[in-house]
Amino acid sequence: MTVLVTGGAGYIGSHVVRALLLRGTRVVVADDLSAGIPARVRGLDVAHIDLAAAEAPDVIRTVIKNHSVTSVIHLAARKQVGESLEKPEWYFQQNIGGLANLLTAMRLEGVDRLVFSSSAATYGIPNVDSVTEDYPGRPINPYGETKLVGEWMVTDAAKAWGLRGTSLRYFNVAGAGAAELADTALANLIPIVFAAIRAGKPATVFGTDYPTVDGSCVRDYVHVQDLAEAHLAALDYLDADARTHSVFNVGTGRGYSVLEVLAEIKRVTGIDFEVNLAERRAGDPPFLCADVSRIKETLGWSAQRGLGEIVESAWAALN
Ligand code: WQD
Repeated sequence: MTVLVTGGAGYIGSHVVRALLLRGTRVVVADDLSAGIPARVRGLDVAHIDLAAAEAPDVIRTVIKNHSVTSVIHLAARKQVGESLEKPEWYFQQNIGGLANLLTAMRLEGVDRLVFSSSAATYGIPNVDSVTEDYPGRPINPYGETKLVGEWMVTDAAKAWGLRGTSLRYFNVAGAGAAELADTALANLIPIVFAAIRAGKPATVFGTDYPTVDGSCVRDYVHVQDLAEAHLAALDYLDADARTHSVFNVGTGRGYSVLEVLAEIKRVTGIDFEVNLAERRAGDPPFLCADVSRIKETLGWSAQRGLGEIVESAWAALN
């Protein structure tokens, strides 16, 4: 059994790759290295492919044949919300085009197992305390739209030719399983605050007048190592009989406000950095927290690490 991991040189992908290798599964990586870092996958077979390019189906077919690929974990995608608002066509071309090419190659080569990297961004702004997978998807940006459409494509392939799929809707992923795999992009709250601390600048809180526990936005932060293990559970699930397409939230079920995250960062770092209370950021749901009953009951997976380990591991990776 060999698993093709697309986006395997990325922050989350490289944790998935390492978890697979640790349990003795053979892995081949496909990555265009636009955001991926070669050092994260040193020593592995890496196919440099833009999955959305016209020649991609043929190239993927060759990778599948050469490595006897039996399953695919598809993480390769563009994932910056702001950028997706500026370049929606490109997001669809990349995320939907890439998935279409991958599914084409899988179908032609008879590879029928796929774990698809989806997102809580498919929910948009839900008005519930914790969101179940059945909550209607109403994404509010092109990034989230590409993830929802991607899920539909997996459902349609399951109906049309018997693909077995799981879509994992990631909530707010953070932390590091090893220093060299750490999140180096300054795109999310915890890395942004660390960068501010290291530059001696204040951290910023976007919005303090939300209807939440302390007025700042609440999110469900999941450790990247726990998330990697969810992919293994999803693969095992697909190996059982008669699977079609199942969707799972991947979070902890517990929310923390931005101010609570900052307090945890102060505790872990021992640095009493300044905090700048700013206006709301456009498009932020006040509260986004996973209902994790389905993944626990069906895959037997639940997050093992909390906010403390998330912040500690991310900070340790930088120091
Ligand atoms: C978390 C909270 C901010 C920075 C995004 C995407 C989502 C998914 C994960 C990819 C929010 C607040 C942030 C800062 C702050 N992406 N914040 N000060 O927006 O919940 O989710 O990343 O798969 O689709 O939307 O994550 O880390 O940007 O923000 O107060 O300097 O922290 O307003 O409430 P978000 P985030």
